Amino acid sequence: MKFTVALDGPAAAGKGTIGRAVAKHFGFGYLDTGLLYRAVGIKALEIGRGVIDPQVAARIAATLSETDLGRDDLRSTMAGQAASKVAAIPEVRAALLDFQKTFARREGGAVLDGRDIGTVICPQAEVKIFVTASDEVRAKRRLLELQEKNPSLTFEKVLADLAARDARDAGRDTAPMKAAEDALLLDTTKLSIDAAVAEAVALIQKRIG
Ligand code: DC
Repeated sequence: MKFTVALDGPAAAGKGTIGRAVAKHFGFGYLDTGLLYRAVGIKALEIGRGVIDPQVAARIAATLSETDLGRDDLRSTMAGQAASKVAAIPEVRAALLDFQKTFARREGGAVLDGRDIGTVICPQAEVKIFVTASDEVRAKRRLLELQEKNPSLTFEKVLADLAARDARDAGRDTAPMKAAEDALLLDTTKLSIDAAVAEAVALIQKRIG
């Protein structure tokens, strides 16, 4: 059976948590596509000693390995910003396209979370959900996640980081972050994790029939 769930939306809206939970619930494969861009971004920064060269980034994307994706620093704020920058390079996106498209149509079902899953990677996805939450709630959640590793991080810094990334991700020419016309909106601002997952499960279940 081929069945794709496309989860798109801004950073820290809850896509990852929801994605992992619904994939487990339905026995589908799960792909966090942001990790691909984070791996490219952090490696491009390293090679360029702090400066991202588009050609270098495109080459990294074309030769991305399991080791690159297994790094333990991919969740950092720096990796997020670098990811957002390389994600605006068309050659980088092109190099990552086939892998994501193939994953989306794998046998047994797939959940992908990202920014362009319902619009570019899998426009024929059986379920498209655009996950949002208020800026404040997203910043609070991200701060909680990152504070353990980085105790000096502040709410204001995280809020500014998210705003900069959202603006770049939504404003780029190639595959900008946006809800597909047929996407269902899931606002998690006032929802607990369990309630958000339950809503997503219900939406998917309805489509499965
Ligand atoms: O989901 P995330 O925060 O880990 O993603 C990191 C960055 O990668 C995000 O700011 C934009 C980019 N990205 C993208 O452009 N397209 C995707 N499908 C996933 C992520």
